[in-house]
Amino acid sequence: MGELTSLFRPQSVAVVGASRTPGKIGNAIVRNIIESGYRGSIYPINPREKEIEGLACYPAVSSVSGEVELAVLSVPAGRVLEAARECGEAGVKALIVVTAGFKEIGREGMELEKELVETCRTYGMRMLGPNCVGLMDASTPLNASFSSTFTTGGRIAFLSQSGAMLLAILDWSSSVGLGFNKVVSLGNKADLNEIDFIEDAANDDYTRVILCYIEDIVDGRRFLEVASEAARKKPVIVYKSGISQSGARAASSHTGALAGSDLAYETAFNDCGIIRAHSMTELFDLAVAFSRCISPKGDRVAIITNSGGPGIIATDNVELEGLHMARFEKETIEELRANLPGEASIYNPVDVLGDARSDRYKFALNKVMDDPNVDSVLVLMCPTAVTEAEETSRVIVEARDAHPDKPVLAAYTGGAKLAGGAEILSRAGIPCFTFPEPAVKCIKGLYNYGRYCQKQERKEEKLLDGIDRKTVKAIFYDVIKDKRLTLLGSEAAEVAMAYGIPAAPIVLATSPREAAEVAEKMGFPVVLKVASPRIQHKTDVGGVKIGLNSPEEVEKSFIEIMESVSHYLPGVPVYGIEVQKMMPRGTELIIGVTKDVQFGPLIAFGLGGIYVNLLKDVSFGLAQSLFDEQKIEEMIARTKAYSLLKGYRGEAPRDFPAVIDVIKRVARLSVDFPEITEMDINPVFAYEKGLSALDIKITIS
Ligand code: COA
Repeated sequence: MGELTSLFRPQSVAVVGASRTPGKIGNAIVRNIIESGYRGSIYPINPREKEIEGLACYPAVSSVSGEVELAVLSVPAGRVLEAARECGEAGVKALIVVTAGFKEIGREGMELEKELVETCRTYGMRMLGPNCVGLMDASTPLNASFSSTFTTGGRIAFLSQSGAMLLAILDWSSSVGLGFNKVVSLGNKADLNEIDFIEDAANDDYTRVILCYIEDIVDGRRFLEVASEAARKKPVIVYKSGISQSGARAASSHTGALAGSDLAYETAFNDCGIIRAHSMTELFDLAVAFSRCISPKGDRVAIITNSGGPGIIATDNVELEGLHMARFEKETIEELRANLPGEASIYNPVDVLGDARSDRYKFALNKVMDDPNVDSVLVLMCPTAVTEAEETSRVIVEARDAHPDKPVLAAYTGGAKLAGGAEILSRAGIPCFTFPEPAVKCIKGLYNYGRYCQKQERKEEKLLDGIDRKTVKAIFYDVIKDKRLTLLGSEAAEVAMAYGIPAAPIVLATSPREAAEVAEKMGFPVVLKVASPRIQHKTDVGGVKIGLNSPEEVEKSFIEIMESVSHYLPGVPVYGIEVQKMMPRGTELIIGVTKDVQFGPLIAFGLGGIYVNLLKDVSFGLAQSLFDEQKIEEMIARTKAYSLLKGYRGEAPRDFPAVIDVIKRVARLSVDFPEITEMDINPVFAYEKGLSALDIKITIS
């Protein structure tokens, strides 16, 4: 268990601020520790008392003769520092500070919290809190919190940044038979945070599922490292609230504008295998499913129902979640036809009709579960006069036991009439929901996680050749020296080429003659573009001329562009005109970079061109995970552009490996140069053979 043993399995606990007065937090904590059945030594600390809850009370931690491993501080904020110092002097290993009045109240509290952390560091103590409810460990057992409920024990570790939410959930969970082996109220996370506890729970063999409610993430990169490692071992389900405030970003590029505020979290969670809940209800629905079910091997769902409506709702949701309705083998259909009433629906969803008793469910369920085209089963029930809820539940349990490789979930839509049946399922470890939608969502979560685990055996990362960091560094140096943050097109193309990204040749010319010479060397036709870091939309100010076929046309166009730009934007600095080779048209793509404060660079890929913001056919990935080609392919596959690349309606496929290679190179560039805040390559033309990056914009900080 490592570093957190002193918190979860201490040999002894002191409660500083213990009280005799019932109803006070200092009293509740002492009682909770005793009532949890904790077997180590308990030391209430209060200078005015001799005995609390039948235990000898000490005036200070230093007066305890034995060793104190963990101390829970429940004294007012003004006394916390002094109490922490005393604990440090007495050799305490870990603190839980429940006291409020720190960072959450503003500057003064923030200063106090800083001093508290420094005190802990000085004495080498780890700290949970401040401003938290405490923690519980059912296997120690220890309830070092002021919760009114102790966990009933289970195999879920539950971490919550909100103390109130944690207390509410504990109270509710016992009513639905959901048990936790560890419960941690994270509080202000001044020292230990969600990452430490996820890491600990991942390494704890007894924990099967990690459940988190968090409002912010302290260190995005470490979170990714630890969470993806944890997700390889067991499901990590996270509900992250506060999405409206997260990652508001400057959006001067297409990529930036396409990235919504919650995108970085969505991308990061997706990339590191975290199962994301979008509400508190979903968090616990998923917890129920993951603590009870195996992951299905595929996405083909079979539905058995005794009424049409819920069957249709469930089918719709299977489609909405991107799962598939299983197509039964011929033999399954024939058997169902031969043995179910003529009015029954024998195709998926199988409708065993409103008059179905348990025997009909039994027959249909076993036939469907035997079918090799079925990966998971959802059983739906509505109460009719003849429904045998309890007996049917027993039948479902037997069928599940006979088919241990396929998860079964249920939705019993009703109330008291179905309660007994639902109870039987819950006790047997079959998730039973009231409505079909959450059940389907859980199947999707289980399936996604199963797929993530299968994909973990990855190939070694192939090293990229043709990377020239020095050139990129030199270009950025010159740009900053020139007091600019935006690169000219020719500079951006040079950066791209230094990383093996096939940029269309582009050269800056400062006079009409020079432009014509450059064009002759390059070969016609060419395009001219005004070069100015201050002009975003060149076409709008007459700054672009395309399809130029002779030196005369180039010279004439040079002068026209200069005149037009100075007419529309008088006084704007113009560095000259860039001459670019005119490339044949290909499938237009966008590849871009935007930066997230927490998780670093995000790479965008999608359909490019002028309609990019309208079509919004873009998907994102964390740059650091895109050195893996399979992940890049998955990212591409989430867009419609994927079909175009693979050859849409008889068109020749585009050079898919080249697209993957360029995305990988853009990811590498963005990770190697964190100063890149935004990058757009739009369009990238994809051909049957090769690619060409036409317009490249790079902004640095
Ligand atoms: N060492 C030991 N005991 C001390 C002490 C010290 N240095 N200083 C004070 N005490 C004793 C007090 O005498 C008192 O004992 P008593 O009941 O016998 O009088 C006890 O510790 C508690 O101190 P008190 O001043 O009565 O504080 P309190 O119980 O009213 O409040 C907190 C203390 C920590 C509960 C309160 O400051 C607080 O933070 N409440 C909010 C908690 C919260 O919401 N946390 C976040 C949840 S999400």
